[in-house]
Amino acid sequence: AGEAHVEDFDFSFEGPFGAYDVNQLQRGLQIYTEICSACHGLKFVPIRTLADDGGPSMPEDQVREYAKQFEVFDPELDDFREATPVDHFPASSLDNAPDLSLMAKKRAGFHGPYGLGINQFFKGIGGPEYIASLLTGYEEAPDCAPEDFPGSYNKVFAAGGIPDSCRDEEGHSTVTGSWIAMAPPLAGDDVEFADGHEADVHHEAMDVAAFLMWTAEPKMMARKQAGFAGVIFLTLLAVLLYLTNKRLWASVK
Ligand code: HEM
Repeated sequence: AGEAHVEDFDFSFEGPFGAYDVNQLQRGLQIYTEICSACHGLKFVPIRTLADDGGPSMPEDQVREYAKQFEVFDPELDDFREATPVDHFPASSLDNAPDLSLMAKKRAGFHGPYGLGINQFFKGIGGPEYIASLLTGYEEAPDCAPEDFPGSYNKVFAAGGIPDSCRDEEGHSTVTGSWIAMAPPLAGDDVEFADGHEADVHHEAMDVAAFLMWTAEPKMMARKQAGFAGVIFLTLLAVLLYLTNKRLWASVK
């Protein structure tokens, strides 16, 4: 596998107090629906969760309408039928396109240095950064590659094929990234956002990456709130225990 460079995008949900941007999640859902869902599935995500707080927060009647565009197989009917909010999103329709439900937690954007993981400590694991970088990472193939080499050259994708002509004598890759079987899905202005938000490749990539972070970690807001409440509670408890300790031993001193 080749080396790859992942850009550190600034997402609203980073840090201990970061939160999902509802408008961004809705834009990301639109990109997933209009573009990515042609090949990729989200089979672990129940459609009804689109109405959940801390997610895209869509009104329930809209979620019901939204669900109707998907077909799911119903074992009771032994036939396909329109999806309803209780169904999950369909699985990938293209065999070699991976399911995206958990992709943002499956990939790491940042590593090292020297295997120490310090970059992850400061920048985060980098799953959404990896996805956004991958979508903006397509470039003209380097000169060393034959023109008919299968796939598209992507400077962020590390797990794809690399032509022998782009390797040195020891077999190490001389290029950044590798060739991916997914043609560039975003070209800019691929969707028209209801909120008039910019739809250049950079913004679209960030929006869909944020949405995929939500599909992979839909309870992030609740988790951060519980963690914060826990820290406050423990701080208070520590103060009380300290004072109790002082008072208990006061007569002995
Ligand atoms: C792989 C995202 C659209 C076909 C992937 C991967 C991601 C991704 C994150 C995994 C890369 C990895 O393994 O590290 C997206 C997003 C899309 C999109 C966010 C929409 C904006 C599409 C479309 C197609 C497609 C429309 C089909 C025409 C594939 C295939 C792979 C792949 C075949 C496997 C590539 C390989 O392993 O070489 N995609 N994708 N994707 N995608 Fe997409």
